[in-house]
Amino acid sequence: MRFGVDYYPEHWPEDRWETDARLMQEAGFNTVRLAEFAWSKIEPKEGVFEFEWLLRIIDILYKYGIEVVIGTPTAAPPMWLCTNKPNILRVNEDRLRITPNHRQQCCINHPDYKSAADRIVTATAETLGKNKAVIGWQVDNEFGPLCYCEECRRQFQEWLEAKYGSLGVLNEAWGTVFWSQTFTDWEQIPLPWRIGGPPNPSLALDFRRFFSDCYAGFLKRQIEIIRKFSDKPITHNFMGLWPEVLNYQKLASQLDFVSWDNYPFGGADPTGVSASHDLVRGYLNKNFWVMEQMSGPGGWSDMSPAPRKGRIRAWTYHAIGRGADGIIYFRWRPCRSGLEQYWHGILNHDGSVSRRYYEIKQTRDELKRFEHLIEGTTIDAQVAFINDYDSRFAFQYQRGNQAFSYTSLLLTLYRSFYNRNIPVDIISSIKDLSRYKIVVAPALFVLTEDVAENLKEYVRSGGTLVITFRSAVKDATGLIYNEQLPARLQDVFGAIVKEYNSPHPDEVTTLWGLSEAVDGHCAKASVWLDIMELRGAEPLIKYDAGFMPGSIAVTRNRFGKGTAYYIGTQMAQDCCDLLTEMIIAGAGVSPGIETPEGVDASVRKGPLGSLLFITNHTERPASIPRPKGYITDMIAGGPAPDIIHLDSYEIAVLGS
Ligand code: GLA
Ligand code: ZN
Repeated sequence: MRFGVDYYPEHWPEDRWETDARLMQEAGFNTVRLAEFAWSKIEPKEGVFEFEWLLRIIDILYKYGIEVVIGTPTAAPPMWLCTNKPNILRVNEDRLRITPNHRQQCCINHPDYKSAADRIVTATAETLGKNKAVIGWQVDNEFGPLCYCEECRRQFQEWLEAKYGSLGVLNEAWGTVFWSQTFTDWEQIPLPWRIGGPPNPSLALDFRRFFSDCYAGFLKRQIEIIRKFSDKPITHNFMGLWPEVLNYQKLASQLDFVSWDNYPFGGADPTGVSASHDLVRGYLNKNFWVMEQMSGPGGWSDMSPAPRKGRIRAWTYHAIGRGADGIIYFRWRPCRSGLEQYWHGILNHDGSVSRRYYEIKQTRDELKRFEHLIEGTTIDAQVAFINDYDSRFAFQYQRGNQAFSYTSLLLTLYRSFYNRNIPVDIISSIKDLSRYKIVVAPALFVLTEDVAENLKEYVRSGGTLVITFRSAVKDATGLIYNEQLPARLQDVFGAIVKEYNSPHPDEVTTLWGLSEAVDGHCAKASVWLDIMELRGAEPLIKYDAGFMPGSIAVTRNRFGKGTAYYIGTQMAQDCCDLLTEMIIAGAGVSPGIETPEGVDASVRKGPLGSLLFITNHTERPASIPRPKGYITDMIAGGPAPDIIHLDSYEIAVLGS
């Protein structure tokens, strides 16, 4: 396993480097990520390279038993590049060119930026590709910013021409007859600029796909360059569940392994962090790294609360429990200069070690005793959630209801599994679903023909499918289907959406459970109300008071050998929990381990046995009866007690 830290030696005098390396070694680190923002230190002038400093720090680290992941520094283009070629700077949605006072300022499609990026990546890979200390590569940093410049516009037009072939086809696919937007020349096609009013949603959807392809191309180019000089694994550091600017699934498919940056700013609710781990593991269906694990308070202007005692250790075990094979803490020492002066890490500004250092060292010392047993294990999930980037893109331009949020809908449904400690993979809709007993697709707004077929086949051959309101509404180009909803899947669900409503946030709609599991008054409905008409399905929950009392909100249908649930509204958590219990029982999913609120458990399985990771994410002490089959306390060594006591932010790892 890989443990270490994100380190910026270029911020510190060289005579400090050896002290840093020694302290890292004493903390038990074997890995450091380096160089990802050091472009101007490596190439101070166009075509003039200075790698000696980097080679010196790599040598020092190696002497202390530490290997390195090299970040290509393309996210921090130097001032000389940004000012020599002013058109290289990105243009924002308001059609204004940004100023170079941050990072990620350049347009990734601009030929001058691309050639400068090629040059720095080539020089870096050539110099370090065969270096014995280099064990991997991180391309760029947290891909994301879009650009709305004329170069991007030109390339978007080319991309559209390649996709649609003729303007006739494009006009049809986007429905440009609306408001006289019919294009008679490719060059007329605009970008979805904000000025002038919201764009055609089909254009906006294709723009996001285009830009995902641009980043995929940018990544591919760097991978190809690195591959000329190195055979070490290549990754990128994604940002978990929340960002929805690019199709990260598409980008991730090019990588050898996936990593992500975990900043659990949220209070005690670890659901989003858990889901993010499950999502990045789902990108390649394999274990991942946390490339930046928050290890101190942070912020650019306001500073977040400092992690309480035990919290960094808890985040570490929590991540490992959900499939992390590498934990790299952000950062080694907070900067004296620049925007991230408040971003703390393992040391203090003055270079002294903090309590956080000792906590991480303790974590590392413990893990050393049994990490060989963690290696080769992973999570075995019978439930999959679909995270669909096309739908997420489309909602950004048409949220439907001001209270709608794709991630909060996903997390409400996910929480019902998570609170029961039932393992979940979060995957993209195009994957093979046959290995899962339950597939949950929240708000699958854009449903392509392929995905519709895939889902249908999945249920036909015995799977349990759960979808929600605002699913199967739009076709691949963003046109509303010319049929009753859920389009393409009416027979699978045995029901259609007869009418729908986007309720006012203050409007109270209550639900009434009709089945045994969800019985009587259950909870509030909000955000969206689909009124279902049954075509063979069985009603499970109806609307009780509000818009159309008595009409059906949730249905279940047998289709082929499988079962399909349609959830027509956003249910409050308690109702969602009840319904999920029924779905789980019906699908025969193995029960999870029971834990008190705020405590979670996950199992890593391998050929030699299983490891159970239990994390108390709260400040309250908790006790859990030792789950059957887990006999060894991996932290303390020896047999596990019959009752596991966990103090505030305490963890336990038990072996089978
Ligand atoms: C991100 C970046 C880091 C750093 C941290 C803290 O995750 O990848 O470079 O900026 O946030 O802001
Ligand atoms: Zn651009």
